Amino acid sequence: MEVGPGTLMGDLLRRYWTPFAPAAEMDKQPTKAVRLMGEDLVLYKDGSGNYGLVDRHCPHRRADLSYGWVEDCGLRCNYHGWKFDHSGKCIDQPFEEIAHPDAHFKDRITIKSYPVQERAGLLWAYMGPLPAPEVPVWEPFTWGNGFVQIVISEIPCNWFQCQENSIDPVHFEWLHDNWGQRLRGQTNGQKPPTHLRIAFDEFEYGFTYRRIREGQSEQDELWTVGRVCLWPNCLFTGNHFEWRVPIDDGRTLSVGWFFDRVPEEMEPFRQERIPYWYGPIKDEQTGRWIESHVMNQDFVAWVGQGGVADRTQEHLGESDRGVILMRKRMLEEAENVRAGGEAKGTIRDPKVARFVQLPIVGRDFFLAGYSMRDVANGSPFRYPKNFIFQAGQPEEITQAYRDAMGMLPDGTPNIRERVTLA
Ligand code: FES
Ligand SMILES: [Fe+2]
Repeated sequence: MEVGPGTLMGDLLRRYWTPFAPAAEMDKQPTKAVRLMGEDLVLYKDGSGNYGLVDRHCPHRRADLSYGWVEDCGLRCNYHGWKFDHSGKCIDQPFEEIAHPDAHFKDRITIKSYPVQERAGLLWAYMGPLPAPEVPVWEPFTWGNGFVQIVISEIPCNWFQCQENSIDPVHFEWLHDNWGQRLRGQTNGQKPPTHLRIAFDEFEYGFTYRRIREGQSEQDELWTVGRVCLWPNCLFTGNHFEWRVPIDDGRTLSVGWFFDRVPEEMEPFRQERIPYWYGPIKDEQTGRWIESHVMNQDFVAWVGQGGVADRTQEHLGESDRGVILMRKRMLEEAENVRAGGEAKGTIRDPKVARFVQLPIVGRDFFLAGYSMRDVANGSPFRYPKNFIFQAGQPEEITQAYRDAMGMLPDGTPNIRERVTLA
């Protein structure tokens, strides 16, 4: 479970590009204090558009560089003005250069730095040994005509119990369906369909989990394709990703990326900047965790397991076969990396990284689109009126979503307006 530098799992996780901040956030404030895998860092975007991710503390006398300022090139410390570029080189030491112009003291100073790349509205860090692999362009990042939003929350528990949830299909029936029904006060006696069969398979970029619930058959895509537990710390359900990013051993940054296709009447649709928001997890009035939305329910389960879940007290059963598989494979792959092997699922070939296909239930729907008339007859899960995954969506993002979808404030399609325009 440990993620610090030099730990078995920390060294494995450092072989992957990790999303850790929304790119749009840096438009507002170009420096940000970041804690990632137990390391205190500062993210910045300088005047030339370069991103840097460097040690939080200045190598001169340890001032906090998140209070420094960015210049055309690099980040300058606010204490005595030393300046660093995104590769970690010290490029200015004002008083030293006056006192000893020939000493070139700065050439002997570097600051810890990690590469950062922007992709799909997110900033990704690579904290492992160089050369870094490619940043994978997962297939949905290339889809057009969708409303995308990024949602971030800090969860006060270890990352790995969050990721175990990604390969646990049975929880969906209980934590979301059955509990959700009770939370909504629905007592009509109808029980959500129960799981009859589950199966787990490994593929190049992770695992798939497959299920058959009451009323579904072996022909259903949930059985023939399945959903994805994306290596090493992500859940991918077809149109959204949820990364469980370790802040340190006791805290996790939940980073969600959500895609909703707009109806064809609203095409072409493009976003200038992908919007983001920070989702609350606690109900300040009651002091309890928020229970109302899908991922909030997951958060309740994760933090409930303890800061770091005590696996010695568990009693694993048949429903946990995916969890057991993932634990075993993570440990094997961590040992493989420690022994000098290439990390599973990393991509070195830029041509491969440019477009990486994943198993997707209902891919045709995301590619072919739909019309406003389909919405009226379709399931609310396919055509969501509201954001069901996390509580606290800011009003301006709710509004931007409705505008993108051509929805009236009550969530119904604004067909008349489109017909008039046509
Ligand atoms: S502590 Fe940063 S320049 Fe002195
Ligand atoms: Fe869940």
